Amino acid sequence: MFCISAKLLQMVAIEDKLSQVNWDFPDSDTKENINSIHPYPAKFIPEIPRNLIRLIGLPPGTCVLDPFCGSGATLVEAQMAGFPAIGIDLNPIACLISQVKTRPPPADFLDSSISVVEQAKKSKRTAVPKISNLDHWFQRDIQEAIARLLTQVDHIKNASTKDALYLSLSSILVRVSNQESDTRYAAVHKKVDRESFYALFLNTAARLTAIKALNKPKTNEVEIACKNILEVTPMDFPHSVGLVVTSPPYPNAYEYWLYHKYRMFWLGYDPIQVKNQEIGARAHYFKKNHQTEHDFRRQMRNVLELLWAVIVKGGCICIIIGRSIIHGRTIDNASMLTEIAGEVGFTSVGNISRQISSSRKTFNLSHANIKTENILVFRK
Ligand SMILES: C[S@@+](CC[C@H](N)C(=O)[O-])C[C@H]1O[C@@H](n2cnc3c(N)ncnc32)[C@H](O)[C@@H]1O
Repeated sequence: MFCISAKLLQMVAIEDKLSQVNWDFPDSDTKENINSIHPYPAKFIPEIPRNLIRLIGLPPGTCVLDPFCGSGATLVEAQMAGFPAIGIDLNPIACLISQVKTRPPPADFLDSSISVVEQAKKSKRTAVPKISNLDHWFQRDIQEAIARLLTQVDHIKNASTKDALYLSLSSILVRVSNQESDTRYAAVHKKVDRESFYALFLNTAARLTAIKALNKPKTNEVEIACKNILEVTPMDFPHSVGLVVTSPPYPNAYEYWLYHKYRMFWLGYDPIQVKNQEIGARAHYFKKNHQTEHDFRRQMRNVLELLWAVIVKGGCICIIIGRSIIHGRTIDNASMLTEIAGEVGFTSVGNISRQISSSRKTFNLSHANIKTENILVFRK
């Protein structure tokens, strides 16, 4: 006689559900949705968290967690499905984007954007903050226009309006700088003047308003913490967690801090502090006594132990990760995470390989050459 445990049946059920979806999502188009309001490297296509939340679900009274929330795609999908969510990220620009995406649109936002531009144009000369290499990356008159605009935004009282204004500015900073593009760090001459800078800012604010108006979340219960995940403890969690959907940083693949370096400088954050704490940043793999895959393994073990402590029994964690290359050696991060999750006590209930669309340019970094990634699902 066969005796099939309930645990085994649930495992088979999850695998069966996951197999119903083509996880490559070749037709994904994120151009005019809420995820397009600000550039972010290696962000999820929304179909991934959307389908994981839909197929796996979570027990009543629990929430969805993304401990590396980046630009907040998981949080938005949890909101859309009516589940409360918690997002954590070290990078203040990530937290700003996630906040603005998941908060109700501020009623006075469009009027405030027009008013800050009018005030900035009328205002007296404003001191430009001391930022390293600023003249290399920004024309002098653009520096002055940004400084004037920021001074006006700093005076806004409503926190949601203020953040949406900061986000509108942050999203256009590379375009008005001398940096060739978001993914190319060469200085080139661009035809931008003060008028076109202010016009671009107003267009961005109008576009944000239009996109937010189309987004109809079922809940606004979203909490975002700007923290180093390695310093977070189970005591920091206001709700019990029923499902985790996340994509951790890969070792030696991206530099989130570098991508947002001048955004952070302008908005008053310290990018070097972010760099020092950023898991996987390439800078840590190219210095004397550089980090190795063992450091990444230790960091991921700490994160998985935290997830084990905060997730309810029967809850699942979904981790989306590709491989990386450290000093010429290919690191199979998916196998490493599967091993660690097993050591921590999780049971593997799914492992799907998906193709990454070649049009996602932030993924085509020559040093990483990442073309596929794995969706790993573990159950407590
Ligand atoms: C692959 S990205 C996440 C992208 C996200 N899924 C999205 O859709 O935008 C990984 C994130 O991990 C964050 N990160 C790196 N080190 C961290 C740390 N020590 N604590 C918290 N977050 C960290 C980075 O800032 C980055 O946003």
